[in-house]
Amino acid sequence: MKGSLLAREILPFYASLALLLGAALLVDAVLHLADAVWIGRWLGIPGVLLILGSFGHSLRKRKIIRSGNPISYLRLHERMGWAESLLVLVHTGIHFNALLAWLALIAMLVNVTSGLTGIYLLQRA
Ligand code: HEM
Repeated sequence: MKGSLLAREILPFYASLALLLGAALLVDAVLHLADAVWIGRWLGIPGVLLILGSFGHSLRKRKIIRSGNPISYLRLHERMGWAESLLVLVHTGIHFNALLAWLALIAMLVNVTSGLTGIYLLQRA
């Protein structure tokens, strides 16, 4: 049973987190190699739009939006959350100047990690 817990929940959780960080590093590396780091500066905007879009799930859950399958909203929320984090991580790059922006990034990562934990807890429930 312990083995299956590791295979079903713990490893997929760390794999999804590693995939996100790996994808961010890869996209950032490609932008650096292509001398197109400026693109990353603009990725904050679609990232924020995706964060706003992923609120659709909360609105559906609280019945502020009344139509649509709640499970579809949840799946969309999960995918948007992943994509949004990728865009914002590439946007932040490896530049260390503004403390406030980094605090925002840390808050986002805490949120994303707790969201990923939630996915596996929900599957178990
Ligand atoms: C409308 C959305 C956004 C815009 C227009 C925007 C704009 C910018 C710009 C222009 C910079 C470069 C500043 C510089 O090089 O001096 C920057 C850096 C940064 N942004 Fe954003 N941003 C947005 C969203 C976000 C979000 C949602 C986060 C984190 C959750 C974030 C975190 C950061 C970080 C960590 C940096 C690097 C700061 C540093 O140099 O230390 N940004 N952003």
